[in-house]
Amino acid sequence: MATARKTRTMNGQANGQIGRMVDLDAGTISREVFVDPEIYAQEQEQLFARAWLFIGHESQIAKSGDFFVSSMGEESVILCRDRQNEIHVFLNSCAHRGMKVCRYDEGNTPVFSCPYHGWSYATDGKLVGVPYFKDAYKEKLDKSKWGLAEVAQICNYKGAIWATWDKTAPSFLEYIGGYQTYLDFLLDTWDGAGGETEVFGGVEKWIIPCNWKFPAENFIGDRYHNISHRSVDLVGFGPSGSGRRDNQEREGATALDISFPERGHGTLAFLRPDDEILPGYQHSKVVSEYFAHCEAERRKNYGQWSRLVPGPGTLFPNMSYLPRQPRTISVWHPRGPNSHEAWRWFLIDKNAPAEVKEFLRHYYISYSGPAGLTEQDDMENWNYAHNASQGVIARRHPYNYQMGMGFDAPPVDTDGLDMPGQIRNVTAAKATEQNQRGFYRRWSEFMSAPDWDALATWRNGKSQ
Ligand code: FES
Ligand SMILES: [Fe+2]
Repeated sequence: MATARKTRTMNGQANGQIGRMVDLDAGTISREVFVDPEIYAQEQEQLFARAWLFIGHESQIAKSGDFFVSSMGEESVILCRDRQNEIHVFLNSCAHRGMKVCRYDEGNTPVFSCPYHGWSYATDGKLVGVPYFKDAYKEKLDKSKWGLAEVAQICNYKGAIWATWDKTAPSFLEYIGGYQTYLDFLLDTWDGAGGETEVFGGVEKWIIPCNWKFPAENFIGDRYHNISHRSVDLVGFGPSGSGRRDNQEREGATALDISFPERGHGTLAFLRPDDEILPGYQHSKVVSEYFAHCEAERRKNYGQWSRLVPGPGTLFPNMSYLPRQPRTISVWHPRGPNSHEAWRWFLIDKNAPAEVKEFLRHYYISYSGPAGLTEQDDMENWNYAHNASQGVIARRHPYNYQMGMGFDAPPVDTDGLDMPGQIRNVTAAKATEQNQRGFYRRWSEFMSAPDWDALATWRNGKSQ
């Protein structure tokens, strides 16, 4: 309660402060946004307690009683499927004295028993067992009021589970708006036929000593940092032995930066002039044949949309992904201003042949995660950038986000495709920072806005 009051009184001042720190007219952002402990504390309340957050995938809790322990902002939560097959997300903290009721990463259980004094909760979160209920409580404890705290809203979108603590937040689909079009490329099966995907293997978890926004803004569309991956490109560990990935589909394509500044999401994409099927995955016959088949089906199922080659993206605030080659989901869980926990899920078509899954498993982990060559490059940058931004002198100098400001991009010819979002053709310019500016515009709104009436800006005018 004290924290809530403090943040509310800060808001008056914070509006002005945040406005000065995120100066989108000038294209500058103060380093305080990344390193200041008060800003970080305010983020927990203003952002992580109100936004929709990615929790996990339904394939992780396929059976009744299955659970997966996830995180929302700093807080541990339990994703679980109850006896009626309903999916829930609970705060992983006992209603009696706060003990973590589940200290495993995942598993299956009929009840969550608190190890401290023994209260136990059913998989629907209800308090079902209280030691000495007759003697110590004289049966007067109202168990119906002391279940596990549950999120206000939950959404299972194409197998991906999302939740928010805020009952006044718009529905998940309204929250993502037109971004749904691009998110679908991640969550659909490769052939676009609407089959099931699944999380393959475990979730990789590791700590990166930098603020969570470094990776979030990188994945939203940092085309500019390819120099960082030069050595990996030279090694050539892509699925056909070149570069980091099979890049042929990007050749001759129009490069697009796509931003949703009213919502904070963003992605990169490439629009191909044709929908020719290119050879890929040449390291393995079974795999290359499987993907050639999927690509042919994809053209039937997506039609003209199969010309769109989706790139990395960030769904505001802290879920990022690579939609293909490799197809992974990551969440950057804040752990103090100077650290975050990175979690990475590997998504795969459920009915893909075992050899394809095994091939992709090797490729995915050599690309992404703490042992992944590409991600190691990125982590090196984020670690040192954060560390070199903490000193009193460093904090006087803002970061530069001016790329692409002050001149017009060539028009985008989507050739009949109705592509949502603020789309910029960056084929000639090579890169812009419009997506990062969109992200921080939304971040400042969350940090200042008193409620969802103020945050749902799209309801007042044009929609994205
Ligand atoms: S803290 Fe869980 S039963 Fe006391
Ligand atoms: Fe990178």
